[in-house]
Amino acid sequence: MHIASVGVNKLCFLLSLAFCGLLLLLIPALQPPARQGDLPQPRPDVRPARAATGSVNTQPKGTNSHRSPELKDIFIAVKTTRKYHKSRLELLFQTWVSRAKEQTYIFTDGEDKELRKRAGANIINTNCSAAHTRQALCCKMSVEYDKFIESQKKWFCHMDDDNYVILPSLLRLLSSYHHSQDVYLGRPSLDHPIEAAERVKSDGSVSVKFWFATGGAGFCISRGLALKMSPWASLGNFISTAEKIRLPDDCTIGYIIEALLEVTLTHTHFFHSHLENLQKLPTDTVLDQVTLSYGGFENRRNVVSIKGGFSLAEDPSRFKTVHCLLYPDTDWCPKMNPRQKN
Ligand SMILES: *[C@@H]1O[C@H](CO)[C@@H](O)[C@H](O)[C@H]1NC(C)=O
Repeated sequence: MHIASVGVNKLCFLLSLAFCGLLLLLIPALQPPARQGDLPQPRPDVRPARAATGSVNTQPKGTNSHRSPELKDIFIAVKTTRKYHKSRLELLFQTWVSRAKEQTYIFTDGEDKELRKRAGANIINTNCSAAHTRQALCCKMSVEYDKFIESQKKWFCHMDDDNYVILPSLLRLLSSYHHSQDVYLGRPSLDHPIEAAERVKSDGSVSVKFWFATGGAGFCISRGLALKMSPWASLGNFISTAEKIRLPDDCTIGYIIEALLEVTLTHTHFFHSHLENLQKLPTDTVLDQVTLSYGGFENRRNVVSIKGGFSLAEDPSRFKTVHCLLYPDTDWCPKMNPRQKN
């Protein structure tokens, strides 16, 4: 009896203590809100501007605090096939690749001693099939991705063997971005997003819409983004991802980036493939582009219109002409009479 009443008293004492404590806690909440400016405000989100997506395109050139990329920061992958080693690669080695030997890697499907003598360790035999099928193309893209990751370089740029890369323009473009951001740069091949059945995250009953950069015009991916693609792209996963959605290599890249990682393609019209009308590019803007291409020598010629030291017969792709305008000191460039220059 006596012990029990002590217990009740103790309980009452504890309860009143708790009540007082609660009241004390409520006092600040019951006061009228302090006027703005009376108290120091919490600092707004102070993430560095570079990490904020969206600030990328609005940032004027030259205000970036980060160092501009150099050629050595870029991994340039050129996709080719055995039968084009002579007709297409020869021209690239003669022109732009000669200015980026160290960072250009040729991904092909057959051994070629002559080519290896010329380009050494930068020739990668993917052992993929030489067929122009989805599987063979995805197999090459998969090897390109793995070699880029291995290289530790900051930017991955994929090119086809009929692209001329205007290196100063490429550097200028990349200098607006940071390699640790999520950056996917290229030319959309369609004017609307592609729609495909979602077979990676779900069973294929729903569809996804996404943009992709057309591989034939070349595209670039930052290292930060490439690393995030790894679950669906590394060590053969690229091939199984492409098989699941049954789309070509460049679409699969777009699918992984836009649909799975929810990073958007930055549309740029500085990249060009032979699928567009290259003649329509204004002559005075040709050297500002990032990639050029050529096509249709046999029937309908599709090349950029630019004048220089070589006639159409001497330089049907116009790549030599472009090269000599960019690098007039090249030993095989014609020494032009200034009055002849256009
Ligand atoms: C292709 O096969 C050769 C010979 O077996 C090998 O040395 C090379 O590493 C393979 N290439 C790739 C990219 O796996």
